[in-house]
Amino acid sequence: MNASKDSYLAESAVDCVGAADGSEALPASETLSTGHADAQPEATRKPVLSKNALKKELKFKKRAELLKQRRPDEKEQRKRKKLAARRRLNQQMTMPGEEIPSNKVARRRILEKLSNALTNGVKLVVDMSFVDIMSPKEIGQLASQICYMYSSNKKFANPFCLNLCSFVKGTTLYDEVLKRCSGFEHYKIRTHEEPLEKVFAKEDIVYCSPDSPNVLEKIDPAKVYVIGGLVDGSPKTRASMDRAEGIGCQTVRLPIKEHMKRIVPHGSSTILTLNQVYEILMKLHETGSWEVALKNSIPQRKGFVLNTEAGKQGDAGTAQEIESEHPEDSTSSSS
Ligand SMILES: C[S@@+](CC[C@H](N)C(=O)[O-])C[C@H]1O[C@@H](n2cnc3c(N)ncnc32)[C@H](O)[C@@H]1O
Repeated sequence: MNASKDSYLAESAVDCVGAADGSEALPASETLSTGHADAQPEATRKPVLSKNALKKELKFKKRAELLKQRRPDEKEQRKRKKLAARRRLNQQMTMPGEEIPSNKVARRRILEKLSNALTNGVKLVVDMSFVDIMSPKEIGQLASQICYMYSSNKKFANPFCLNLCSFVKGTTLYDEVLKRCSGFEHYKIRTHEEPLEKVFAKEDIVYCSPDSPNVLEKIDPAKVYVIGGLVDGSPKTRASMDRAEGIGCQTVRLPIKEHMKRIVPHGSSTILTLNQVYEILMKLHETGSWEVALKNSIPQRKGFVLNTEAGKQGDAGTAQEIESEHPEDSTSSSS
């Protein structure tokens, strides 16, 4: 064995232990084998760490220490964010001429608003009939998206009347939703075990699908808007389009390429998550503006900017038309 190399490693180990946990450095003999290791019997000899392994160990310990220090901060930050969100929500529930209501009053008003939406709101359905083509992880993610969507629905002045179709008791998806969405049994949401074509007239159904050749123009309160309860961990091409064709209902896609440009060379696709589609529909319903709806609901990392902003941001040179992801796209319009 190379004695000089070993003693160098032993020294590094002492540095490493002392520096990483801030404690007294342990004697090398307690951490690693030393230059005298050859004197020990083979069975009791501790393994000698390579220089790289030592570096890794040091890095790991430093990171663990940093995380430990950061944790209270993050907890505090989360608490502050939650409080700020609550305050914003309460503020929205303020009646003209009054102060921000207490949590209790705001909560009661939100519940009234959501109950009212169940009878008067525009109907929005999540079609939960795709469980067979999703992995357990994707099913869990879909369940979480349902909780976010419900939470988000509270923020709006005229929330949607939310429906879950093909939502069958005893299935993994049902159990996941119950597990992840706390208080789900009190949610102001309509659940149906039947598939959506049994619950609504097919003439009223407008199925959102990225593969549709038709473009959505505006929200028609008499229609029932459907989003596929799908999480695309692995791409499921045309799943929602095939489903809609099976029902024989109208289909629409969001007019992303009509209103936006791509500012990153190999940008992401125009297929969005259930929550993003929900937000876009809701904002379109509230403001009537596609620009507002798209700008505020599509995350920046997707690399899309509004046509009207492509020049302003200095990306006039890089902004590209979003090419059609569907060759058969005939871009006919629909409401
Ligand atoms: C993650 S996407 C699933 C995409 C999937 N490949 C499919 O066949 O629909 C979840 C749902 O959001 C809706 N969606 C996503 N992007 C859309 C777009 N650009 N236009 C219309 N609907 C969209 C669809 O209802 C879709 O089923």
